Amino acid sequence: MTTPPSPSRIDTSQAHPARVYDWLLGGKDNYPVDEAVGEKLPPEVRIGALQNRAFMNRAVAYLASAGVDQFLDIGTGIPTEPNLHQIVQGIAPSAKIVYTDHDPIVLRHAEALLVSSPEGRTDYVQADVRDPGAILDHARTVLDFDRPIALSLIALMHFVADEHDPYGIVATLASALPSGSHLVLSHAASDIFPEIAEQATEQYARSGMTLALRSRKEVARFLEGMELVEPGLVTAPEWFRGEPAPEPEPSGMYAVVAQVS
Ligand SMILES: C[S@@+](CC[C@H](N)C(=O)[O-])C[C@H]1O[C@@H](n2cnc3c(N)ncnc32)[C@H](O)[C@@H]1O
Repeated sequence: MTTPPSPSRIDTSQAHPARVYDWLLGGKDNYPVDEAVGEKLPPEVRIGALQNRAFMNRAVAYLASAGVDQFLDIGTGIPTEPNLHQIVQGIAPSAKIVYTDHDPIVLRHAEALLVSSPEGRTDYVQADVRDPGAILDHARTVLDFDRPIALSLIALMHFVADEHDPYGIVATLASALPSGSHLVLSHAASDIFPEIAEQATEQYARSGMTLALRSRKEVARFLEGMELVEPGLVTAPEWFRGEPAPEPEPSGMYAVVAQVS
């Protein structure tokens, strides 16, 4: 592990996205401030969180089955089983995974993320996606940048406001990846259920957290120059659900897997 644990930096007086998300998923690694935010969110947000996690599961399993055995996961969140490495190493035991999050609470739980299969490797670095260079420098010490890598930015970029250049960040990360690499991205929508999106954004803002929800067109901008894997940019439950359900499950989460080069 690169950054030593520093539990004292966990601020329990203010809600944090990782802990609100943990509450939404039914986890126990959150505080009353986080629960208070979660309680006030529209119920669709919890459904979206569960749909997002299920998408992550399917997307990384798909890539691991297709032979991808290196993953750079940014905005990892508090461990929730099955974690990405458990899914991937269940298919490709020698897979290497680098996890990254900026929240000290994730670092505190990183031990659970670091239990690798004996043949593979897991690694954790505390870092901010807004400093992609630092993340890439670290990832290069673990992953082989001459072979394909899957970059997962799952339910992360809607925490990065436009003023922090989210498109430049994703372009910097994607352009550093070797040929044959993939991006796995999910992003909460501003335009599927606009009223719910507005309520959620307001609720996060009142608690001091940025939520920068984006429209389909704005999410598609992250994918410029990439080749989308079928079924393309869809909602999370629509991503590889096989036969279309008679009544599609509504979802306010966009999801996509794309080949970056
Ligand atoms: C909604 S959770 C998603 C967790 C996991 N990727 C998933 O989809 O199940 C978002 C995570 O992104 C992290 N995050 C938010 N802003 C970040 C930033 N600027 N740099 C790194 N991580 C960030 C939060 O701490 C949180 O753990």
